[in-house]
Amino acid sequence: MMRQPGPGAADPDGGPPAVCVLGLGRVGLAVAAALASHGGRVCGVDIDPRRVAMVAGHLPADDEPGLAELLGQHRFSACSSHADGIRRTSVTYVIVPTPSDDRGGYELRHVQRSFEQIGHALAQSDEPHTVVLASTVLPGATRYALQPVLEDASGRAVGDGLDLCYSPPFVALGSVLRDFLHPDFALLGVADGATGREVETVYRRVLGPGVPIRTMSIENAELTKLAVNTFLTMKITFANTLAALCDHLPGGDVDTVTDAVGSDSRVGPQLLTGGFGYGGPCLPRDNAALALLAEVVGVPPELARATDAADRWFSAHRAEALVARLRPESTAVILGAAYKAGTSVVDASQSLELARVLAAAGVHVVVYDQRAASAAGRVLAAAVAAGTVRIVDEPADLPRSPDLVVIATTDAQLTDLALDLRPALLADPWRLVTRERWPAGTEVLQYGRPNATRPDDAAFNAVRSLWADRSESPERIGPGGTGMDALVAED
Ligand SMILES: NC(=O)c1ccc[n+]([C@@H]2O[C@H](COP(=O)([O-])OP(=O)(O)OC[C@H]3O[C@@H](n4cnc5c(N)ncnc54)[C@H](O)[C@@H]3O)[C@@H](O)[C@H]2O)c1
Repeated sequence: MMRQPGPGAADPDGGPPAVCVLGLGRVGLAVAAALASHGGRVCGVDIDPRRVAMVAGHLPADDEPGLAELLGQHRFSACSSHADGIRRTSVTYVIVPTPSDDRGGYELRHVQRSFEQIGHALAQSDEPHTVVLASTVLPGATRYALQPVLEDASGRAVGDGLDLCYSPPFVALGSVLRDFLHPDFALLGVADGATGREVETVYRRVLGPGVPIRTMSIENAELTKLAVNTFLTMKITFANTLAALCDHLPGGDVDTVTDAVGSDSRVGPQLLTGGFGYGGPCLPRDNAALALLAEVVGVPPELARATDAADRWFSAHRAEALVARLRPESTAVILGAAYKAGTSVVDASQSLELARVLAAAGVHVVVYDQRAASAAGRVLAAAVAAGTVRIVDEPADLPRSPDLVVIATTDAQLTDLALDLRPALLADPWRLVTRERWPAGTEVLQYGRPNATRPDDAAFNAVRSLWADRSESPERIGPGGTGMDALVAED
C-alpha cells in the first residue's frame, strides 16, 4: 500500500507535537481541552457527533469546573473521522471505554476497534506516530492483546516508525481538569527504554518542570494504575471499619482516631474520614480486576476481594439499620444522589443504592440533588415509575418533618437543608452537623460515634463480652458474626 506523508503532523509553530485524542467522553474531552490549553494543537475524534459538537461549544459541556471556558479555543478542533484526526497529528491518545467483563477484567472491544482505526490511518502515511493508551486495562493487555491489532492494521512494527505507550491519567470526575493538570506524578509506560520521548515532551509542556514523570515498562504502568485505585479503596474501607468499630466503643470517636492515625506520615490523612463507601465509574471495579490478575498468576486475591466485600457489607448493614428504625409508609429524604460531592455522576452511587433498599422496604423515598437529579432518575427509573421514589432538584419540593433525612454527600449546602427539614431522625454519616447545631427533637445518627442523643448500652455489650467468661463468649464477635466470610466466599 502506498504511504502518503500526513498533512501537518509537525506543528507549524515549532511547538509541542500535535495530539489527537480519540474518545471525547467524560475523561477524554477534559483531557483534550487541558492539552490544548497549554499550547499544543489538539484534534479530538469521537464516534458520537454530540461529543464532537461540544468541542466547538455547540452543545453544553460536561459538568466539569473550567471545561466550558476551554471549549471553542482555536487550538482545539474535533471531527468524526479517525483518519483526519490521526494524520494531522503525531501523537494519538486513546481514552475509550473499557467496561468490566464477566470475569472482573476490562472489555477491550472499544480499544481494539480504536487501534484498528488508528492502524488503518497510519497505513496511509509514512509519518512516525506515537499511540498512547490511557484507558484502564489489565496488566499485559497493551502488549499482548492490543499491540498485535495495531501492528496488523498499520503494517508497521512497534519501534519502526510506530511508538506505543500506556499512560492513564489519575483523575476523578468533577475534577478531571485540575487532576490532569496538577497530578502528583504522570505515569508513562513505554515499550522500551528508547521510546516515549514525544509523550514526555507533551507532558513537560503541559505539566511544567515540577511534576515527576514516572517512566517504566508498559506492564509496570498498567499495574501501577490498578494499584493506586485499589489501595485507595482499601484505605477508604479501612476508615469505614474504624468508624464501625467506634460505633461500639464507649466514647468512640472515629475522627479522633483517624486524625491521629493519619498524622503518621507512613499512613497520611487523605481518604481516612469514614462515612459512605466508595462509588463512581472506576473504584468499584478495580479490585475485581486486581483479584482476577492475582488468581490467574497464583497470588492470593483475598485482599482485593475483602475490600469490595467489606464495602458492600457496610453499605448493606447501614441501610438495614435505617430500615429497622422506620415503619413502612414512613418518609425518608436522601440529600445528594451523586457518588460524591461536586459532581453529577451517579455511577455506583451508594446514596442511590440506599434509596433502593429503603423503597423496597416500603418507605416513601425522596432523593434531592440539584446537579444529578436527571441522572438519578434514569438509574432509579423503575422505582420512580412505581411511585416508591421521587427525585427532586428544588429544596421547596422536599417534604417537611420527614421521618428520616440522610446527608449522603459532603456538599456544604446539604447540612443547612437537612436541619431546615426538621426530621425525626437525621443520619449524618460524615459527621457534618456540629453538636451545637443538633436540633431539639431530632435524633442524630453519625457514623463512627455512638449515638449520643440516644445512648444505647446494648451497643457496647459485644466489647464487654471480650472479658466475660470465655466459654460464654458470644458467636457474634467471632469472624463469622458479620457474614463477611460468606460475602468473600461468594466472589
Ligand atoms: N470516568 C473516570 O473517572 C475515569 C478516570 C480515570 C480513567 N478512566 C478510564 O478512562 C476510559 C474512558 O472513560 P470515560 O469515563 O471517559 O468513558 P465515556 O464512556 O464517558 O467516554 C468514552 C468515549 O469514547 C467514545 N468512543 C468509543 N469508541 C470509540 C472509537 N472507536 N473512536 C472514537 N471514540 C470512541 C465514546 O463515544 C465516548 O464518547 C475508561 O477506560 C475508564 O476506565 C475513567
